[in-house]
Amino acid sequence: MEKNPCIIEVNDLSATFEERQILHKVAFRAFEQEITVILGASGSGKTTVLKHILGLYNIQEGYISILGKNLSMITESEQKKLYKAIGVFYQNGGLLNSLTIGENLGLPLEQHTDLDDEMIRSIVMLKLNLVNLVNVYDHYPSQLSGGMLKRAALARAMIMDPPLLFCDEPGAGLDPVSLASLDSLLVNLKLQLGISMVIITHQVSSILRIADRIVFLEEGRVIFYGTLSEALDSGDPDVRDFFNKGMRGYDSSKNS
Ligand SMILES: Nc1ncnc2c1ncn2[C@@H]1O[C@H](COP(=O)(O)OP(=O)(O)OP(=O)(O)O)[C@@H](O)[C@H]1O
Ligand SMILES: [Mg+2]
Repeated sequence: MEKNPCIIEVNDLSATFEERQILHKVAFRAFEQEITVILGASGSGKTTVLKHILGLYNIQEGYISILGKNLSMITESEQKKLYKAIGVFYQNGGLLNSLTIGENLGLPLEQHTDLDDEMIRSIVMLKLNLVNLVNVYDHYPSQLSGGMLKRAALARAMIMDPPLLFCDEPGAGLDPVSLASLDSLLVNLKLQLGISMVIITHQVSSILRIADRIVFLEEGRVIFYGTLSEALDSGDPDVRDFFNKGMRGYDSSKNS
């Protein structure tokens, strides 16, 4: 497979918190217009890696570059500009309960642009259409189903047209049908808008549907890095075990 340009490079990233080493020389790359999945058991360090990439932790050891910028070398204003170009979809969706869906989505546009209310409203409508949500503009988050909330949160993460989107467990808590529809939405956004994504998940059914490339973490170490098909052919017992168990779980839930 011809590789697209590299958009994220993580090199020998190590991190120690409270005298415990959490990350051990983590290294991988993510490429343009691909979905890179970070997977691994609970506590393996997935969110910690993501938080480093998002600049929420200082880099103690190693190096990260995003869209060609070395995070340790850029100025604060360059950093602000960089993160404005990145969409983030948080585990709990990150929508404010006191605002309507329309207001929630419009907020970043109000804060970061000079667009007038009418323009903001039409951009918000456009994004809601993109994630197949209609007639929820004036609804409050509490009035939406779990799957609808996820899609609204996804629309919010994309409101500024980011070329790069990060999602931490976007499918957590969804039933298999809603999960499959969220996955196909993510793949469509990649194919139609050319958005590159880094997605954390440990649901094998999702990984099989969305992943181009895989970073497998175990206890803060990368035990596998490669394409999905390389992962499925991998001789590594932990990688095999992960996919075999997950596929069995997936099949049994499908048949039940
Ligand atoms: N700021 C911190 N200070 C101390 N320990 C931390 C900190 N952040 C994470 N850890 C520890 O690092 C380890 C990895 O945590 P992390 O949240 O990255 O795991 P994860 O792979 O995202 O797990 P999950 O699937 O449950 O979300 C855990 O043992 C956690 O307790
Ligand atoms: Mg996590």
